[in-house]
Amino acid sequence: MDFKKLVKERRSIKHFDKEHSMHKDEVKELFELTLLSPTAFNLQHWRFTVVENKNLREEIKSVSFNQSQVTDASLLVVISGDLDAWKKNPKKYWRNADHKTQDLMGSMIHGFYNQKTQIQRDEVMRSCSMAAMTLMLAAKNLGYDSCPMDGFDFDAVAKLLNFPKNQIPIMFVAIGKKTKEAWPRGGQLSMNEVVSFIQ
Ligand SMILES: Cc1cc2nc3c(=O)[nH]c(=O)nc-3n(C[C@H](O)[C@H](O)[C@H](O)COP(=O)(O)O)c2cc1C
Repeated sequence: MDFKKLVKERRSIKHFDKEHSMHKDEVKELFELTLLSPTAFNLQHWRFTVVENKNLREEIKSVSFNQSQVTDASLLVVISGDLDAWKKNPKKYWRNADHKTQDLMGSMIHGFYNQKTQIQRDEVMRSCSMAAMTLMLAAKNLGYDSCPMDGFDFDAVAKLLNFPKNQIPIMFVAIGKKTKEAWPRGGQLSMNEVVSFIQ
C-alpha cells in the first residue's frame, strides 16, 4: 500500500470480526517487520505475547474494562518490555559486529543505564512504542485493522501472563478485520500548535 494512504487509513478500530483468523504467514510477516523497528543501542527490549487461548483472552478482557477488541480481534498482541535488557549480556545486541565494537557498545550501554532506573524504564516505553507503530502499519499493509490499547490493569495482566518481575506490560495491539468504521477523528491539533522551528 502507498505509504501516505497507509498512514492515513490506520485508525483505532473498536469492533472486529471474531470469526476471522489470520494465516500464520501473515502473522510471521507482521513480526518480521516489527522486529526491524529501532531501539537505543539496539537493545530490543520488547517482548510480544500473542494470546491465542480464548479463556485467557476472556480473563484479560475482564481486567481491560471489558473492551471487546481483546476477545474479538484475530490477534491480541501484548507488548511488554524487559527493564533489565540493558544488563543481560548486552554484547548479544551487537552479535554481528567485531569484538572491539561489542566491547565498546557493552561499556557504553552500562554507562548509559547503570543505576538510572527512570531512564531504563523510559527507554523500554520508547522501544515498545516504536514497535507498536510498526506492527500497526504492517497490519494495515496486509489489509488488517488494529487498535493500540492501554486501557487495562497492568498488574493484573502481568499476573495473568506470568511475567517475571521486571517484564512490564506496555500496551496491547489488537489486530483483525473491522466490522465497524473508526469514530470520526477526534480533532488533530494544528501544525502551529505542535511544530516549532528554531533558527
Ligand atoms: C497508548 C495508547 C493507548 C490507547 N488505549 C486505547 C484503549 O484502551 N482502547 C481504545 O479503544 N483505544 C485506545 N487507544 C486509541 C486512541 O483512542 C486513538 O489512537 C486516538 O483516539 C486517535 O485515533 P486514531 O488512532 O483512530 O487515529 C489508545 C491509543 C494509544 C496510542
